[in-house]
Amino acid sequence: PSKRILIRGGQVVNDDRAFLADVLVENGLIKEIGEQISISEDGQIEVIDATGKFVIPGGIDPHTHFQLPFMGTVSIDDFYIGTRAALAGGTTTIIDFVIPPKGQSLVEGYHQWRKWADEKVCCDYGLHIGVTWWSEQVKADMETLVRDHGVNSFKMFMAYKGSIQVTDSEMIGIMNTCREIGALAQVHAENGDIIDENQNRLIAAGVTGPEGHPQSRPEEVEHEATKRAIMLADQTNCPLYVVHVMSKQAAREISDARREGRVVFGETIAAALASNGSHYYDKCWRHAAAHVLSPPLRRDPTTAGALMDLLSNGDLQTTGTDHCTFNSEQKSMGKNDFRRIPNGINGVEERMPLIWEKGVRTGKLDVTQFVAVTSTNAAKLFNIYPKKGRIEVGSDADIVVWDPESCSTISAAQHHTAGDFNIFEGMTVHGGPAVVITKGVVAVRNGKVEAVKGSGRYLETNAYSPAVYGRINQRAKIHKWEKVERS
Ligand code: URP
Ligand code: ZN
Ligand code: ZN
Ligand code: ZN
Repeated sequence: PSKRILIRGGQVVNDDRAFLADVLVENGLIKEIGEQISISEDGQIEVIDATGKFVIPGGIDPHTHFQLPFMGTVSIDDFYIGTRAALAGGTTTIIDFVIPPKGQSLVEGYHQWRKWADEKVCCDYGLHIGVTWWSEQVKADMETLVRDHGVNSFKMFMAYKGSIQVTDSEMIGIMNTCREIGALAQVHAENGDIIDENQNRLIAAGVTGPEGHPQSRPEEVEHEATKRAIMLADQTNCPLYVVHVMSKQAAREISDARREGRVVFGETIAAALASNGSHYYDKCWRHAAAHVLSPPLRRDPTTAGALMDLLSNGDLQTTGTDHCTFNSEQKSMGKNDFRRIPNGINGVEERMPLIWEKGVRTGKLDVTQFVAVTSTNAAKLFNIYPKKGRIEVGSDADIVVWDPESCSTISAAQHHTAGDFNIFEGMTVHGGPAVVITKGVVAVRNGKVEAVKGSGRYLETNAYSPAVYGRINQRAKIHKWEKVERS
């Protein structure tokens, strides 16, 4: 592969502006940006014509689950297939979740995931750590991970009762620790106790099919947990990032909190922006089960558009996928009981084209906003900016030459994941990556993926991201204790 690449004549787009320029890439980095960059034509350089196209920072998917041991099986896309699919869709960085079972050391879990990922990843990746239980040892592990292992985000599960769910009092301990060590607290916001109750009632009533999944987890279940997480984070002066926001109610809770000055961020996912919960009622079991994820897709057809509106006005900041694929055979584990259908859907490959289609083509997002919500905002929040998320001299050469005119129809027959179902099957998307460059190497060209197994690197992320902690101390003043001296 050529060590130097010149991208000629494209419209360079960052989150703050777009301008016509050439981009020169050398040794994995962006070396120069300017009009008509001149080069000696000595054959040592590859020239890519980007006329009529956008030159954007590679996508960052802050929410994937590759080869995740979960619900009695392991998600089918491993770190090779998963990152390869990511590249195929214009995403050059993923952030995955270490999810250690209760009782396991978080540091051990981290090393386990590194071992799985390092030899397989085709692009750079970071890790969030799931905190599934709480003890003095867990607290010490969180400190170690931030200090020595480049971790700066920890996810708590308010659902999945009996396996990885944490209690409010555990969340308080975890949030206090995040605050002390400069990390970002993340939550899966659903009330697991009421879900458990609803599930049992549905099963007792004979509702065993995939339609039982959304019925056991209605919007208010996500809404309540979102509101509670925001309150707990605010009371502990801990910044909060709500992962996979799936409903209007939860999203509005985040908007309101932000308007009150609280340090809360919201991520939604490709599936929520481009699909809906009607699929759970599909007559075909396989079809319905393929859409099972938590929180579920909503049946309210206005949800997707409303979530896109919130990305557009800045109330939600990032888009992930929650990519966690199980094939039909794995999904069949729940054939007689929806509670046993492994939770997870695809999206890592489709995210950027879908957001282009549903966001830019509808006029809700301009191209700079597209870059912000697919890449830059995540880079800032997880503190890998401007190494990632920006076309700038010195930044990593993770670049996508985006063709706004391309047109393709999503299909499991063509996708790069190992799953045998695609929840976006049959959708036509306009806009897609013509060329994808990861760390200065062309990984995708004309739809052909040339990803190199093991070529990606683990991304160390520093604590105290300015985008996250900038306002925390200001906010903390609100919670000063008051003491009255009395005679
Ligand atoms: O259904 C989902 N979301 N599966 C992956 C685990 C999680 O909760 O993120
Ligand atoms: Zn989750
Ligand atoms: Zn079907
Ligand atoms: Zn997830």
